[in-house]
Amino acid sequence: MKLIENVREMQQYSESLRLSGKRLAVVPTMGALHNGHLALVRLAKRHADVVVMTIFVNPLQFAPTEDFSRYPRPFERDKALAASEGVDVLFHPQLNELYAEQFETFVALDHISQKLEGKIRPTHFRGVATVVSKLFNITKPHIAVFGEKDAQQLMLVRKMVRDLNFDIEIIPAPIEREADGLAMSSRNAYLSPEERRAATALFQALVLAEKKIRSGERNAEAVCAYTLNQITSATLLAKPDYAAIVRTDDFEEAVTLQEGTEYFLLLAVRFGNVRLLDNCRFVV
Ligand code: PAF
Repeated sequence: MKLIENVREMQQYSESLRLSGKRLAVVPTMGALHNGHLALVRLAKRHADVVVMTIFVNPLQFAPTEDFSRYPRPFERDKALAASEGVDVLFHPQLNELYAEQFETFVALDHISQKLEGKIRPTHFRGVATVVSKLFNITKPHIAVFGEKDAQQLMLVRKMVRDLNFDIEIIPAPIEREADGLAMSSRNAYLSPEERRAATALFQALVLAEKKIRSGERNAEAVCAYTLNQITSATLLAKPDYAAIVRTDDFEEAVTLQEGTEYFLLLAVRFGNVRLLDNCRFVV
């Protein structure tokens, strides 16, 4: 595996691979790799000749009150995992390599950035869209793989690629789960043993909500209230931020679930200082 830390070198290397006819995939990450990330790599390998993984903890997507400085950075472990999964190139820039002094250009999406996660984290998606644009311009991929756990991020990237005409195919990867159903996330490592046990309530509530929809419930608000109630009655440690049902094609919130339409049921729930996201995709 080739390690690159410099923007110019990464651009030149990608350019030479493209010129030699290789199909490139990028898997953007913030490191602290787990099986969910490795599944993204496996998917990328099915679609491309060369897989570039990026590891960069992006300060722009963290609010001052969030966990930027304490975000885990186990780089040597990440490097070994990436190599063992067959990543071809690891792009790992330092902070000042990506954001020079007086950096002042941002990519912001209006509507999608302001709801759900964006309401709670108002500057988050501007940070994500900016860094993902930069990583696309630096790694020059044909395809990019993003996980469905961060469903709003995935939709944001899809819209940005369409709106700004990036010539890149976005490939979504299904959520990877632990044996007890908890969605894999780097932030799971922050959970205390008690919170970790309680956090399985999210997946269990999603399963029950799907059952409720299958048994005929069509009122989105009622499904969301039912889902949150399942979580808070399973554990006192869970403090839900929201449950919401959105259409998968445009991320608009549903009122009445329509036959033949595909939706995400999205959850954001805090356990102590840790915010967990989870979702399920379903067709009515
Ligand atoms: O999903 C993440 O890990 C990050 O938001 C991303 C896409 C790598 C941008 O920093």
